Amino acid sequence: MATIPAIAADRVPELLRRMPKAELHIHIEGSLEPELIFAMARRNGVPIPYASVDELRRAYAFTNLQSFLDIYYAGAGVLVAEQDFFDMAWAYLEKARADNVVHAEIFFDPQTHTARGVAMETVINGLHRACEQAREQLGVSASLILCFLRHLSEEEAFQALEQALPLRDKFIGVGLDSSEVGHPPEKFARVFARCGELGLHRVAHAGEEGPPEYVWTALDVLGVERIDHGVQSARDPQLMRRLAQERVPLTVCPLSNLKLCVFPRLEDHNIRRLLEAGLAVTVNSDDPAYFGGYLNDNFLQTFEATGLTAQHAWQLANNSFEASFVGAEQKRRWRDRLDEVFASLQA
Ligand code: ADE
Ligand code: ZN
Repeated sequence: MATIPAIAADRVPELLRRMPKAELHIHIEGSLEPELIFAMARRNGVPIPYASVDELRRAYAFTNLQSFLDIYYAGAGVLVAEQDFFDMAWAYLEKARADNVVHAEIFFDPQTHTARGVAMETVINGLHRACEQAREQLGVSASLILCFLRHLSEEEAFQALEQALPLRDKFIGVGLDSSEVGHPPEKFARVFARCGELGLHRVAHAGEEGPPEYVWTALDVLGVERIDHGVQSARDPQLMRRLAQERVPLTVCPLSNLKLCVFPRLEDHNIRRLLEAGLAVTVNSDDPAYFGGYLNDNFLQTFEATGLTAQHAWQLANNSFEASFVGAEQKRRWRDRLDEVFASLQA
C-alpha cells in the first residue's frame, strides 16, 4: 500500500485484533496452560509439586530468564505421548486463529523431551499433525523450527539433529534457545554450518539478556536469517545500522521482556526506537501461557503502553509476513488482506 489509510485512534485496538498477522517466535512448550499441565500430569501419572492450577500460576513470578526456564522445563515434563504434543499445539493454533494469525512458525525444544526418554518422532509427529490439521480446519498455515538448547553441548545438538533428520520434511529450520548469557552463538558454529548445508532455515535467540556481540556472532558465525529478541542491539549503534541496512528481522516479544525483567515497565520497552531506526521488527508472544498473553495481547498492551500508531501496526504486520519463510506470492496475498482490513477501518 503506497499510503496507509488514516485510522481513528480509538479504532486502533479493533485494527490490531482484526489485522492478519504472522507469529514467528512462539515456543510451543511455552503455550502449555496450567490447566493442560494438570490434565496431562493426571493422565500420564507424572507428579507435579503444585496442589492446584492457581498455585502453579502463582509460581509464575520471574526475575530473569533462568528463573522462568527452570519452571518451563518442569512444566514440559508432563508431555509423554504423541497425543500430548498434538493437543498442546492444537490448543495454541486455535488461539492463534482467534487472534487472526494466518501463519505461525513454531519453535519446539526436542532435547527437553528426548532427555526424559520420549522419542524424537513422538514429539515431531504430534506437533506436525496439529500443523496439518490447522491448515485444513482453521485456515492457519503452520510450520516447525527445531531449537537446540544452548546450555547443552554442541555434541548434544548434533545428536538431536541426527535423530530428527529422518523427519526432515516435517520441520523447516533450526533455532537456538535457553540460557543465553555464557552460551554464545559461536558455541554452535559447526552444527549450524551443517544445518545450512542441509538447506534448513536458521534463526537464533540473541540479545535477549545477552550482549550485542551475540547478535553479531549469530549473524556472522551461525549465518542466521532472523534474530529472536535482539532488543539489546540498541546498545550498539554500529549494529543498529547494520540491522537496518540489511533489514534483518527481529522477533521481539514485549510481554516476555516485561515478565523476565528485561525492561522494568512496558512503557520503557524500546520497540518504538527499533522500529523508527528502520529495523524489521515483528511482535510475538514467546511463551504466552507463562507471560500473560497471546499475540493480540502483546499488540494491544504494547500499543497502549508505548503510543504506537496505526502506521506502526501496518509495518509490524507486514514485517511479520516479509520475515516469514514462505514464498513471495503468499506474502503478497497476506499483504493484500492486510490492506483490505486497513481500508475497511478507514476514518
Ligand atoms: N525458551 C523458551 N522461551 C525462551 C526465551 N524467552 N529465551 C530463551 N529460551 C527460551
Ligand atoms: Zn523465545
